[in-house]
Amino acid sequence: MNTRETLRINGEGHLEIGGCDAVALAERFSTPLYVMDEQYIRAMCRIYRKTLSEEYGGNGLVLYASKAFSCLAVYKIAAQEGIGADVVSGGELYTALKAGFPADKMCLHGNNKLPRELKEALDAGVGLIVVDDYAELDMLDALAAERGMRQDILLRVNPGVEAHTHHFIQTAKTDSKFGFALADGTAEKITCYALGKKNVRLRGYHCHIGSQIFEKQSFALAADKMMAFMADMRDKTGFAADTLNLGGGFGIWYTDEDVRFTPEEYASYLKTLISEVKKKAKAYALKEPFLLIEPGRSIVGEAGVTLYTVGAVKEIPGVKKYVAVDGGMFDNPRYALYQAKYTALLANRAAESADETVTVAGKCCESGDIVCADVKLPAARRGDILAVLSTGAYNYSMASNYNRNAVPPVVLVKEGRAEYIVRPQTYEDIVRNDVLPDDLQ
Ligand SMILES: Cc1ncc(COP(=O)(O)O)c(C=O)c1O
Repeated sequence: MNTRETLRINGEGHLEIGGCDAVALAERFSTPLYVMDEQYIRAMCRIYRKTLSEEYGGNGLVLYASKAFSCLAVYKIAAQEGIGADVVSGGELYTALKAGFPADKMCLHGNNKLPRELKEALDAGVGLIVVDDYAELDMLDALAAERGMRQDILLRVNPGVEAHTHHFIQTAKTDSKFGFALADGTAEKITCYALGKKNVRLRGYHCHIGSQIFEKQSFALAADKMMAFMADMRDKTGFAADTLNLGGGFGIWYTDEDVRFTPEEYASYLKTLISEVKKKAKAYALKEPFLLIEPGRSIVGEAGVTLYTVGAVKEIPGVKKYVAVDGGMFDNPRYALYQAKYTALLANRAAESADETVTVAGKCCESGDIVCADVKLPAARRGDILAVLSTGAYNYSMASNYNRNAVPPVVLVKEGRAEYIVRPQTYEDIVRNDVLPDDLQ
């Protein structure tokens, strides 16, 4: 197992996170339980902010891509660390506002924003809206006119960079539901259309080439294409974009097939982007744009550990051994979605050698309800506490009540203290919105 400052094996041979013994956390809060390490989240916010400040004179803003993990506490932490937020729905916007997050440091995304969501964003004073559709642009212009305002916007561009990552999480190929492609001229056409609108002010462009990407060159290539496009638009239309949002997507460690960076090493992704933007600004005689980046997974992913209790252990002779836990696809659907890989260990026997290869299954009524496949564990027994690492991103935020299972609570750990940031759901919560019409009473 890899270790880092706040994730280690303690003297009792237990997993420890943020100074808290994982076995004690499981006893106190029960399982399944999401555990988030505050120090790690803050370190990641800080490193991106510091790098932008030192390498680019602070001419930009780091936006936490809150789709990765959204709740009041995480917006509070991001705000305290002086970074902005990317929100992608009315629900994320509402949560951020409720946490007191400054609306002018928010950027609203979405390939099919609802009219209601556009109104909510305008009324809240969201700093930037990233437009992804002609009708959306018309609607936004009309809604801003009704309010007597002019809304700053970016256009989502698909630069056609194929990042080396899992197919389903690539978003910038020409065949994508997101953005206007550079390759077929649609990005140019929407630029001209947006420039003709009175109640939106086009500031620049956004792209996001995918997620869990390790190749720095993919990011550099996207930056290069976007800068070239900005120069092209200036030459063709006279429009001088002053803002460039290069999205998120920096890869994190899930298993030893992945690189494991320290927070400081993540700065190198951003340095690559900044140096490319500076180089191309010079080459194309462009003013250096206000630069936005939107890391999500890399801020919260490795900060999270999910704790489960082992239940049924079933060996199918000659096939495999299933270790079933009290969670599953309702707290982490990523294996079911794209066979995501994870590292797991027994938190109560963390120092024991992991000699068995097993598949960790959930408790849902789906054969595909797998938490992680082919992981190495010591021979697991009923009652062991299983920890799955790097579950801070796209786990809680993708959770559901499938099979009417309760979404697990989230605790934030720091220097040996642990507190709820999301309380446990009760059965009553699960039926709260159910209604029996008169004839079913
Ligand atoms: C527009 C946009 N920005 C940022 C992100 C965050 O990406 P990641 O969590 O990989 O950093 C995403 C993820 O899908 C996205 O769609």
